[in-house]
Amino acid sequence: MDLSGALTPALLLLCLSCLLLYLNGKRGSRKSGKMPPGPAPLPFVGNLFQLDPKEMHRSLEKLSESYGPIYTVHLGSLPCVVLCGYQAVKEALVDQADDFSGRGDFPVFYRFTRGNGIAFSNGEKWKVLRRFALHTLKNFGMGTSSIESRIQEEAQFLVQEFQKTGGAPFDPINPICRAVSNVICAVVFGQRYEYQDTDFLTLLDHFNENFKIMSSIWGELYNIFPSLMDVLPGPHHKIFRNFEKLRQFITERIRCHQKDLDPGAPQDFIDCFLIRMEQEKQDPLSYFHTETLVMTTHNLFFGGTETTSTTLRYSFLILMKYPEVAARVHQEIDHVIGPDRPPCLADRKHMPYTEAVLYEIQRYITILPMGLPRAVTRDTPFRGFLLPEGTNVIPLLSSVHYDPTQFKDPTAFNPANFLDGNGAFKSSNAFMPFAPGKRICLGAGLARMEIFLFLTTILQHFSLHPMVPPAEIDLSPQCTGLGNVPRPFEFRLLPR
Ligand code: HEM
Repeated sequence: MDLSGALTPALLLLCLSCLLLYLNGKRGSRKSGKMPPGPAPLPFVGNLFQLDPKEMHRSLEKLSESYGPIYTVHLGSLPCVVLCGYQAVKEALVDQADDFSGRGDFPVFYRFTRGNGIAFSNGEKWKVLRRFALHTLKNFGMGTSSIESRIQEEAQFLVQEFQKTGGAPFDPINPICRAVSNVICAVVFGQRYEYQDTDFLTLLDHFNENFKIMSSIWGELYNIFPSLMDVLPGPHHKIFRNFEKLRQFITERIRCHQKDLDPGAPQDFIDCFLIRMEQEKQDPLSYFHTETLVMTTHNLFFGGTETTSTTLRYSFLILMKYPEVAARVHQEIDHVIGPDRPPCLADRKHMPYTEAVLYEIQRYITILPMGLPRAVTRDTPFRGFLLPEGTNVIPLLSSVHYDPTQFKDPTAFNPANFLDGNGAFKSSNAFMPFAPGKRICLGAGLARMEIFLFLTTILQHFSLHPMVPPAEIDLSPQCTGLGNVPRPFEFRLLPR
């Protein structure tokens, strides 16, 4: 009997399994230390059977009920230290900020970035690029009144776009995404895009699609078994195709900038980066080259669009679910700003209730429930353990926001979490949507400005009308993983 026909696929399968075990094993190979205890892992799959990749942060929170606020979980063969609750996250990310300032493995981004850019680099490269970005963004108005006027102007364009709906039901995802993206485009590319620009629209569709796939079971499985998922079919491959299109878009913009560059008068972030590339072109150790420019631009463009626009969409849903909260925000807008002038950042300190509502929305939804994975930058003693250099760390930001030692009745939506007894706004150390410490979100200040100015401008002009009774509005995410993605919805905006 000839067995060769049956043996070939079996042999192939065996070889493939050995290769995957080897590749996966490499992810898990770390120096020994003293890791916190956790659920016993199985070879290759790790703790997969104790986790639900569709609801990763919830299943990690659940495991902490058995293993405590600090434990080790194996994603495939990669051991990760999970930090759950305010105290654990604060002790690591704030009290030992330097030790916990590394970026951990994140295969779904790494395959595209190769560790270039700010968000997924480490060591000296990360420090240099982050410092450069902060400095340059500041020079282009981030954190000053010039970015404030840019947001105010964009908010007016958004209002005009909304007025065109004439009170008919619509899904706000596209206009919001375009408005938010335009703010960062102005700083990075030196221009905004018309809401009708089809190339730009397609690109933003790719953003939304990627955020959704990365926040689905496919994104989570890719992060756990990257080598296996590379060879298995599935929607996750779309992430990389979409990222490639984004790369082409950015590369094309860089080419135009190179053509028109006036080194004496840089117009935007890309110009400044190109000038620095030119200054350091003889230095073989320079971090300023085309690939780091593309990825840094990508970090700002993608990071600056998806999170903020998702927060705004969620805000609409929440305000429609709690109309009494929306009514009080309207009242405060009418009282402090009135109908005739655009809201400005200085209004914030006179609008404690609105400020508290915006904080509470961000606490309640935690757009990135697991932050981005961190890593320890050296062998790190922590609460009696010794985490070997490079150990992945997952800070469960959602668990901080739902920590009953920090917020009363945390599963309820309650703006009083951010108000003192006299109705004045009070922040909380446990408010961490941007993750604290050395790697805190680079756009946190910009995001806060945008959320305030976009929302107050829209509420100044419109009242929000849901298509179903408020009690039926479902705030649970459509998918949750990297991000919490709200369910698609339509609403009506009526002029006030
Ligand atoms: C509501 C809006 C936003 C939220 C909730 C958010 C959240 C986060 C979080 C949790 C991280 C991970 C930080 C860490 O590892 O500790 C992060 C990183 C980052 N964010 Fe944001 N972000 C928002 C808006 C923005 C904006 C507007 C920009 C662009 C200007 C931006 C750019 C970045 C970058 C570049 C990083 C990487 C920082 C680093 O690794 O050093 N983000 N963000």
